[in-house]
Amino acid sequence: MSLAEKVVIVTGASSGIGATTAEAFAKHGAKVVLVGRNETNLKAAEAACKAANNKVELLSITADVTVDAERIIKTTIDKFGQLDVLVNNAGIAELGHILDIDVEQFDRIMNINLRSVFLLTKFAAPHLVKTQGNIVNVSSIGGLRSFPDTSSYCTSKAAVDQFTRCIALDLAAKNVRVNAVNPGVIVTEAHRRMGMSEEEYAKYLEHCKDTHALGRVGSTKEVADAIIFFASDTASFITGATLPIDGGKHAMCPR
Ligand code: NAI
Repeated sequence: MSLAEKVVIVTGASSGIGATTAEAFAKHGAKVVLVGRNETNLKAAEAACKAANNKVELLSITADVTVDAERIIKTTIDKFGQLDVLVNNAGIAELGHILDIDVEQFDRIMNINLRSVFLLTKFAAPHLVKTQGNIVNVSSIGGLRSFPDTSSYCTSKAAVDQFTRCIALDLAAKNVRVNAVNPGVIVTEAHRRMGMSEEEYAKYLEHCKDTHALGRVGSTKEVADAIIFFASDTASFITGATLPIDGGKHAMCPR
Protein backbone atom coordinates (compact mmCIF):
# COMPACT_ATOMS: atom_id res chain seq x y z
CA MET A 1 0.00 0.00 0.00
CA SER A 2 1.32 3.37 -0.95
CA LEU A 3 0.31 5.80 1.77
CA ALA A 4 -0.83 8.47 -0.69
CA GLU A 5 -4.54 9.25 -0.24
CA LYS A 6 -4.83 6.78 2.66
CA VAL A 7 -6.87 7.99 5.62
CA VAL A 8 -4.84 7.72 8.81
CA ILE A 9 -5.88 8.43 12.39
CA VAL A 10 -3.10 9.33 14.83
CA THR A 11 -4.15 9.67 18.48
CA GLY A 12 -2.11 11.86 20.81
CA ALA A 13 -1.08 13.79 17.69
CA SER A 14 -0.58 17.11 19.42
CA SER A 15 2.89 16.32 20.78
CA GLY A 16 5.91 14.03 20.78
CA ILE A 17 5.82 10.77 18.81
CA GLY A 18 2.23 11.39 17.67
CA ALA A 19 2.98 14.84 16.21
CA THR A 20 6.06 13.58 14.35
CA THR A 21 4.10 10.56 13.08
CA ALA A 22 1.27 12.77 11.79
CA GLU A 23 3.86 14.90 10.00
CA ALA A 24 5.48 11.79 8.45
CA PHE A 25 2.12 10.54 7.13
CA ALA A 26 1.43 14.02 5.72
CA LYS A 27 4.79 13.92 3.93
CA HIS A 28 3.78 10.57 2.37
CA GLY A 29 0.58 12.11 0.99
CA ALA A 30 -1.86 10.53 3.44
CA LYS A 31 -5.01 12.27 4.68
CA VAL A 32 -4.29 12.73 8.35
CA VAL A 33 -6.74 12.81 11.25
CA LEU A 34 -5.08 14.37 14.27
CA VAL A 35 -6.64 13.48 17.61
CA GLY A 36 -5.74 15.32 20.81
CA ARG A 37 -7.21 17.09 23.79
CA ASN A 38 -5.46 20.44 23.44
CA GLU A 39 -6.76 22.56 20.56
CA THR A 40 -3.79 24.97 20.56
CA ASN A 41 -1.28 22.12 20.40
CA LEU A 42 -3.34 20.41 17.68
CA LYS A 43 -3.16 23.61 15.61
CA ALA A 44 0.65 23.60 15.93
CA ALA A 45 0.73 19.93 14.84
CA GLU A 46 -1.52 20.81 11.89
CA ALA A 47 0.89 23.58 10.87
CA ALA A 48 3.81 21.13 10.96
CA CYS A 49 1.85 18.71 8.71
CA LYS A 50 1.13 21.53 6.26
CA ALA A 51 4.78 22.56 6.28
CA ALA A 52 5.68 18.95 5.39
CA ASN A 53 3.11 18.86 2.55
CA ASN A 54 1.15 21.95 1.60
CA LYS A 55 -1.47 19.84 -0.23
CA VAL A 56 -2.20 17.59 2.76
CA GLU A 57 -5.84 17.07 3.75
CA LEU A 58 -6.22 17.27 7.51
CA LEU A 59 -8.94 16.76 10.09
CA SER A 60 -8.32 17.69 13.70
CA ILE A 61 -10.57 16.16 16.34
CA THR A 62 -10.42 17.56 19.85
CA ALA A 63 -11.19 14.48 21.87
CA ASP A 64 -10.30 12.33 24.85
CA VAL A 65 -9.60 8.78 23.69
CA THR A 66 -11.07 7.33 26.89
CA VAL A 67 -14.56 8.69 26.20
CA ASP A 68 -14.73 9.74 22.54
CA ALA A 69 -13.57 6.65 20.64
CA GLU A 70 -16.83 6.14 18.74
CA ARG A 71 -17.05 9.84 17.84
CA ILE A 72 -13.43 9.86 16.61
CA ILE A 73 -14.11 7.03 14.15
CA LYS A 74 -17.52 8.40 13.09
CA THR A 75 -16.18 11.93 12.49
CA THR A 76 -13.37 10.45 10.36
CA ILE A 77 -15.79 8.38 8.24
CA ASP A 78 -18.19 11.34 7.89
CA LYS A 79 -15.36 13.50 6.54
CA PHE A 80 -13.30 11.08 4.44
CA GLY A 81 -15.65 8.12 3.84
CA GLN A 82 -13.07 5.52 4.80
CA LEU A 83 -10.31 4.58 7.23
CA ASP A 84 -7.06 2.87 6.21
CA VAL A 85 -4.73 3.14 9.20
CA LEU A 86 -5.28 3.57 12.94
CA VAL A 87 -2.26 4.60 15.01
CA ASN A 88 -3.03 4.15 18.72
CA ASN A 89 -0.37 6.43 20.14
CA ALA A 90 -2.01 8.40 22.98
CA GLY A 91 -0.71 7.27 26.33
CA ILE A 92 0.63 8.29 29.70
CA ALA A 93 3.31 7.06 32.08
CA GLU A 94 3.43 7.47 35.84
CA LEU A 95 5.87 6.24 38.43
CA GLY A 96 4.83 4.40 41.58
CA HIS A 97 6.16 1.73 43.94
CA ILE A 98 3.62 -0.95 44.84
CA LEU A 99 3.90 0.06 48.52
CA ASP A 100 2.76 3.60 47.63
CA ILE A 101 0.58 3.58 44.51
CA ASP A 102 -3.15 3.79 44.77
CA VAL A 103 -5.72 2.01 42.68
CA GLU A 104 -6.65 5.30 40.98
CA GLN A 105 -3.25 5.34 39.24
CA PHE A 106 -3.72 1.78 38.02
CA ASP A 107 -7.23 2.57 36.73
CA ARG A 108 -6.13 5.83 35.08
CA ILE A 109 -3.25 4.22 33.21
CA MET A 110 -5.25 1.18 32.14
CA ASN A 111 -8.08 3.41 30.98
CA ILE A 112 -5.89 5.56 28.75
CA ASN A 113 -3.19 3.11 27.63
CA LEU A 114 -5.29 -0.04 27.21
CA ARG A 115 -9.07 0.46 27.37
CA SER A 116 -9.02 3.31 24.83
CA VAL A 117 -6.95 1.14 22.47
CA PHE A 118 -9.59 -1.58 22.78
CA LEU A 119 -12.40 0.91 22.09
CA LEU A 120 -10.77 2.58 19.10
CA THR A 121 -9.85 -0.81 17.64
CA LYS A 122 -13.39 -2.10 18.09
CA PHE A 123 -14.99 0.92 16.39
CA ALA A 124 -12.33 1.13 13.65
CA ALA A 125 -12.19 -2.57 12.75
CA PRO A 126 -15.25 -2.74 10.43
CA HIS A 127 -13.88 0.19 8.43
CA LEU A 128 -10.38 -1.30 8.27
CA VAL A 129 -11.88 -4.55 6.96
CA LYS A 130 -13.45 -2.59 4.08
CA THR A 131 -10.12 -0.99 3.10
CA GLN A 132 -7.82 -3.94 4.00
CA GLY A 133 -6.12 -1.44 6.28
CA ASN A 134 -3.98 -1.85 9.35
CA ILE A 135 -3.35 -0.80 12.94
CA VAL A 136 -0.10 0.31 14.56
CA ASN A 137 -0.07 0.46 18.36
CA VAL A 138 2.53 2.51 20.19
CA SER A 139 3.53 0.27 23.06
CA SER A 140 6.83 0.51 24.95
CA ILE A 141 9.95 -1.42 25.84
CA GLY A 142 8.10 -1.51 29.17
CA GLY A 143 5.69 -3.96 27.53
CA LEU A 144 8.48 -6.36 26.66
CA ARG A 145 10.73 -5.90 29.69
CA SER A 146 10.16 -5.19 33.40
CA PHE A 147 11.28 -2.12 35.36
CA PRO A 148 10.80 -1.19 39.02
CA ASP A 149 8.44 1.61 40.10
CA THR A 150 6.42 1.47 36.87
CA SER A 151 4.18 -1.57 37.33
CA SER A 152 0.95 0.07 36.12
CA TYR A 153 2.61 1.44 32.98
CA CYS A 154 4.56 -1.71 32.12
CA THR A 155 1.50 -3.89 32.70
CA SER A 156 -0.65 -1.66 30.47
CA LYS A 157 1.90 -1.86 27.66
CA ALA A 158 2.37 -5.64 28.04
CA ALA A 159 -1.40 -5.88 27.65
CA VAL A 160 -1.23 -3.69 24.53
CA ASP A 161 1.35 -6.12 23.09
CA GLN A 162 -0.87 -9.11 23.80
CA PHE A 163 -3.91 -7.25 22.44
CA THR A 164 -1.88 -6.50 19.29
CA ARG A 165 -1.17 -10.19 18.75
CA CYS A 166 -4.73 -11.33 19.51
CA ILE A 167 -6.34 -8.76 17.21
CA ALA A 168 -3.79 -9.56 14.51
CA LEU A 169 -5.16 -13.12 14.62
CA ASP A 170 -8.81 -11.97 14.78
CA LEU A 171 -8.37 -9.81 11.68
CA ALA A 172 -5.80 -11.83 9.69
CA ALA A 173 -8.47 -13.62 7.65
CA LYS A 174 -9.76 -10.18 6.63
CA ASN A 175 -6.25 -9.14 5.55
CA VAL A 176 -6.09 -6.42 8.20
CA ARG A 177 -2.63 -6.28 9.83
CA VAL A 178 -2.00 -5.25 13.44
CA ASN A 179 1.47 -4.46 14.76
CA ALA A 180 3.13 -2.52 17.57
CA VAL A 181 6.28 -0.49 18.04
CA ASN A 182 8.03 -0.66 21.41
CA PRO A 183 10.10 2.48 21.90
CA GLY A 184 12.94 2.76 24.38
CA VAL A 185 13.55 6.19 25.85
CA ILE A 186 12.58 8.84 23.30
CA VAL A 187 13.02 12.56 23.86
CA THR A 188 9.49 14.01 24.26
CA GLU A 189 7.56 15.79 26.99
CA ALA A 190 6.52 12.40 28.45
CA HIS A 191 9.13 12.29 31.21
CA ARG A 192 8.52 15.88 32.32
CA ARG A 193 4.80 15.07 32.38
CA MET A 194 5.71 12.25 34.77
CA GLY A 195 6.99 14.92 37.12
CA MET A 196 10.74 14.94 36.39
CA SER A 197 12.43 18.30 36.92
CA GLU A 198 14.83 19.62 34.26
CA GLU A 199 17.75 18.50 36.39
CA GLU A 200 16.34 15.02 36.97
CA TYR A 201 15.55 14.68 33.26
CA ALA A 202 19.08 15.67 32.23
CA LYS A 203 20.47 13.13 34.71
CA TYR A 204 18.09 10.45 33.42
CA LEU A 205 19.12 11.05 29.79
CA GLU A 206 22.75 10.73 30.82
CA HIS A 207 21.97 7.44 32.62
CA CYS A 208 20.20 6.22 29.47
CA LYS A 209 23.52 6.18 27.62
CA ASP A 210 24.28 3.07 29.68
CA THR A 211 20.85 1.47 29.41
CA HIS A 212 20.58 1.66 25.61
CA ALA A 213 23.14 -0.48 23.75
CA LEU A 214 23.62 2.19 21.09
CA GLY A 215 24.65 4.58 23.86
CA ARG A 216 21.93 7.16 23.33
CA VAL A 217 18.20 7.80 23.57
CA GLY A 218 15.99 7.89 20.48
CA SER A 219 14.18 10.57 18.51
CA THR A 220 10.50 10.82 17.64
CA LYS A 221 11.46 10.51 13.96
CA GLU A 222 13.05 7.11 14.58
CA VAL A 223 9.74 5.84 16.02
CA ALA A 224 7.65 7.55 13.32
CA ASP A 225 9.77 5.89 10.60
CA ALA A 226 8.97 2.45 12.07
CA ILE A 227 5.25 3.31 12.27
CA ILE A 228 5.30 4.37 8.61
CA PHE A 229 7.02 1.07 7.76
CA PHE A 230 4.32 -1.02 9.50
CA ALA A 231 1.53 1.08 7.98
CA SER A 232 2.86 0.74 4.43
CA ASP A 233 2.85 -2.11 1.94
CA THR A 234 6.52 -2.74 2.64
CA ALA A 235 5.27 -4.60 5.74
CA SER A 236 2.55 -6.49 3.83
CA PHE A 237 3.58 -9.90 5.28
CA ILE A 238 4.03 -8.67 8.87
CA THR A 239 1.27 -8.91 11.45
CA GLY A 240 1.19 -9.52 15.20
CA ALA A 241 4.72 -8.13 15.57
CA THR A 242 6.05 -6.06 18.47
CA LEU A 243 9.17 -4.23 17.32
CA PRO A 244 11.62 -2.65 19.78
CA ILE A 245 12.75 0.80 18.61
CA ASP A 246 15.09 1.09 21.52
CA GLY A 247 18.75 1.21 20.54
CA GLY A 248 19.10 -2.41 21.70
CA LYS A 249 17.77 -1.81 25.21
CA HIS A 250 15.65 -5.01 25.05
CA ALA A 251 18.77 -7.09 24.38
CA MET A 252 20.61 -5.91 27.47
CA CYS A 253 20.77 -7.58 30.84
CA PRO A 254 22.33 -6.19 34.04
CA ARG A 255 25.70 -7.73 34.97
P1 NAI B 1 3.64 12.81 24.92
O1 NAI B 1 3.20 13.03 26.31
O2 NAI B 1 4.26 13.92 24.16
O3 NAI B 1 2.46 12.25 24.01
C1 NAI B 1 1.35 11.56 24.50
C2 NAI B 1 0.14 12.19 23.87
O4 NAI B 1 -1.03 11.45 24.26
C3 NAI B 1 -0.05 13.63 24.36
O5 NAI B 1 -0.33 14.46 23.25
C4 NAI B 1 -1.24 13.53 25.29
O6 NAI B 1 -1.99 14.71 25.37
C5 NAI B 1 -2.00 12.40 24.61
N1 NAI B 1 -3.00 11.83 25.50
C6 NAI B 1 -2.82 11.32 26.74
N2 NAI B 1 -3.99 10.95 27.26
C7 NAI B 1 -4.93 11.21 26.32
C8 NAI B 1 -6.34 11.05 26.26
N3 NAI B 1 -7.03 10.56 27.29
N4 NAI B 1 -6.98 11.43 25.13
C9 NAI B 1 -6.31 11.95 24.09
N5 NAI B 1 -4.98 12.12 24.08
C10 NAI B 1 -4.31 11.77 25.19
O7 NAI B 1 4.64 11.58 24.99
P2 NAI B 1 5.20 10.59 23.87
O8 NAI B 1 6.50 10.16 24.40
O9 NAI B 1 5.11 11.17 22.53
O10 NAI B 1 4.20 9.36 24.02
C11 NAI B 1 3.51 8.78 22.93
C12 NAI B 1 3.38 7.28 23.15
O11 NAI B 1 4.67 6.71 23.17
C13 NAI B 1 2.72 6.94 24.51
O12 NAI B 1 1.82 5.87 24.32
C14 NAI B 1 3.92 6.49 25.35
O13 NAI B 1 3.57 5.56 26.34
C15 NAI B 1 4.80 5.85 24.28
N6 NAI B 1 6.20 5.72 24.67
C16 NAI B 1 7.00 6.83 24.88
C17 NAI B 1 8.32 6.68 25.26
C18 NAI B 1 9.23 7.84 25.51
O14 NAI B 1 10.35 7.63 26.03
N7 NAI B 1 8.85 9.06 25.19
C19 NAI B 1 8.90 5.34 25.44
C20 NAI B 1 8.00 4.27 25.18
C21 NAI B 1 6.70 4.46 24.81
